[in-house]
Formats: sequence, C-alpha cells, structure tokens
Amino acid sequence: NKVVLAYSGGLDTSIILKWLQTTYGCEVVTFTADLGQGEELEPARQKALLLGIKPENIFIEDVREEFVRDYVFPMFRANAQYEGLYLLGTSIARPLIAKKQIEIAERTGADAVSHGSTGKGNDQVRYEVAYYALKPDVTIIAPWREWDLRSREALIKFAEDHQIPIAKDKRGEAPFSVDANLLHCSSEGKVLEDPAVEVPDYVYSRTVDPEQAPDTPTVVSIDFEKGDPVAVDGVRMSPATLLAKLNELGRINGIGRLDLVENRYVGMKSRGMYETPGGTILLLAHRGIESITLDRGAAHLKDELMPKYAELIYNGFWFSPEREMLQVLIDKSQEFVTGSVRLKLFKGGVHIVGRESPYSLYSQDLVTFEEGAVAYDHRDAAGFIKLNALRLRTLAQRKRNLGI
Ligand code: ARG
Ligand code: SIN
Repeated sequence: NKVVLAYSGGLDTSIILKWLQTTYGCEVVTFTADLGQGEELEPARQKALLLGIKPENIFIEDVREEFVRDYVFPMFRANAQYEGLYLLGTSIARPLIAKKQIEIAERTGADAVSHGSTGKGNDQVRYEVAYYALKPDVTIIAPWREWDLRSREALIKFAEDHQIPIAKDKRGEAPFSVDANLLHCSSEGKVLEDPAVEVPDYVYSRTVDPEQAPDTPTVVSIDFEKGDPVAVDGVRMSPATLLAKLNELGRINGIGRLDLVENRYVGMKSRGMYETPGGTILLLAHRGIESITLDRGAAHLKDELMPKYAELIYNGFWFSPEREMLQVLIDKSQEFVTGSVRLKLFKGGVHIVGRESPYSLYSQDLVTFEEGAVAYDHRDAAGFIKLNALRLRTLAQRKRNLGI
C-alpha cells in the first residue's frame, strides 16, 4: 500500500518515484537526507510535490551530525580502509539512510521500502541487508532490477511521457554515476570504465589539482579525545563542522584523490575515483595520535582486525553482531587516544610533524641512545635475543648435521 523511497530529487529517483506510482499504484513516501552532499534539499521537496506526493509524505532531514558522529567517527577509530586504500565513503552512508527509511516506514505505516541503486553494485546489498536487519518482514522494491527501462534513452522517454523535468545536460550522455556526502565524493562509469585511461580533470570536484596547489604548506593541528577528533587548530567543533573544516583544508591542498580498481561484493571488479580530502587528513592524524597512546599489542591486534571490519562495512553488514562486536573492541582500545597531532598539508600530501598526549607511552628516557633508563638494562637484551633465536639455531644445527 505504501512505500518509503530514498529520494535524492535527481532524475533517476524521480523516474523511480513515478514508476512506483504507475506500476504498483501505491502511495509513495519520500525520504531525502542531507548527508553533506552539497546540494539544496528544497528543490527535492518541490519536485516531489510536483510529482504528486502529499506534503505529509515528504520527509527531509539534515542528518550530517548523526552521520559523522555515529558512523564516520566510529569507523575512523578503526582506521578502516577497504583493500588497503578505500575510505568507505559511500559504504558508511548506506546504513544510516536505510535506518531512516525504516523509521519513517514504521511511523507512516508503510510496509515497503525502495532505493535507486542498480542491480550490479554494492549499494543494493547494503540498503537491503540493512532493511532486513531492522525490519525482518519488510517488502523491498528494487526498480533497477525489475523494470524494462534498459537504456538511457528508455529512461529519458519514460521521464518525458510522465512530465518529469529533465535538466538539460541529462538529455545527452549521463557523464558517470556520482555519489557524494560529507566524507567523500565517488565517481564510476562511462569515461572511467577503462582502468588504463587516466581520470580526466573535470571528474574532480572536491580538490584542486595537487600540481596547482599552493607552494607553501598549511600547518594544522587536530585534537583528539578517546579516538575522536574534537578540535582543529585549538577550536572545538561539532563532528560535521570539523569534517567540513578538514575537507576545506584538504581541498585547497589537493589532498585525498584516489583512482582505484576494487572488488565489488557482487563479484566483478570496478574502477572508481574517490575524493576524500578531510578523511585522508583524519586517518593519518588518528594513526599519529594512536602511535604514542596505544600499546603495541593493542595496536597490532586492531590492525589485524581492521581489514575484516572494513570488509563488513563494504559488504553492507553494519547492523550485524560481528561488526558490533568488533566495534566494542575498537572503542575499548581508544580509551587513552587523547592528545594533539600537528600536520603539514602540501601539494596532495599529508605529513605528521608532531604529536603529544597527556597519556603518551612514548618514553624518551627508554629510547634514547644516550645513557639513561633503569627500566632497560642492556644485559637483558642478550638473553632476550638468544632465547628468541633458539629455534633458529636448532634448525641451523640440523642443516649443518645433514650437510645441506
Ligand atoms: N564503489 C563504491 C562503493 O561501493 C562507490 C559506489 C557508489 N558510487 C557511485 N558513484 N554510484 O562503496
Ligand atoms: C550502483 O550500483 O547503484 C552504484 C555502484 C555500486 O553500488 O557499487
């Protein structure tokens, strides 16, 4: 009877909206989130009204603070990177959107939800796994997997037939598929599909070309409390404000561009371009503060678990017991990850130049090559090394005995 659609206000989700009305004859409820994608939301309301959505069925929400505080920052406590590089900017936003849709479904008495992801990607999995995790009896409508609008022309024709406004540049070739929020902007498809060909300049939207960036570095300090950034250059900021500030510093210095071929959960390799300016700064800063506040055993364990944690987020299992278990472990590790990191941003690079913490484990007295530290006795090292080498000596002895 009623379906809650994740609605951006763009052409594709407007077509989906119309298609749901005409194919299923159901009442459509739209949800539009401000995730910091940098677009006005009012046009989405106007467009929904124009397409016949009742005012009480239009939900628009600014979720930027919730997104950064409850999704981005917890993920950065883990230093999560998929396949060693991808900062998961799209992956981490999907569970939040899905959660909001389910909340609205419960509130409006809708039994179905719908999204605009294609049938070939990760996003369909992320949305739908999250829907099921939060509402086990939900009905999911995935138009891209159901309809027979197989080409761009068919889509445009459908839009024209149903009086859906089409922006001029959308009549020709859609350039590529873009997904944006406060953490990143990603582009896939069309000109990017050949991984041998360099990403053209016009695809970038969040960063200046590093080669054109200023010739003098920007020095910035980031303060952390229990693993989360709380201040930039000594100024305390809300999570979303802080990330936006780092994005701006990253933008002008050309930081956070990534051209990546990755393995999608559904099986194929895909080539994408990501811009994650603030996130790239934050990741290194966080590793910097961890370097002096985490014990080696704790640090190495969380680094071993990180790929697993990143894969869970990439594959869409944010609302799973194993992700939540790992989160508890990661959060526990951040108890003393408090202090300040100073960085230099320069022509696409981020460089740590200093770090300090009231809980630092770093001991100059222990590490110095000068005479010092009673806790470390040189004579202890000889036995430590000899016992560690015992099995290697045994192996070497066998080799000798066998003459090999
Ligand atoms: N490949 C990225 C991911 O799976 C981004 C997918 C969405 N991006 C897009 N341009 N449609 O997280
Ligand atoms: C999509 O299929 O809608 C975007 C790409 C992806 O989800 O991997």
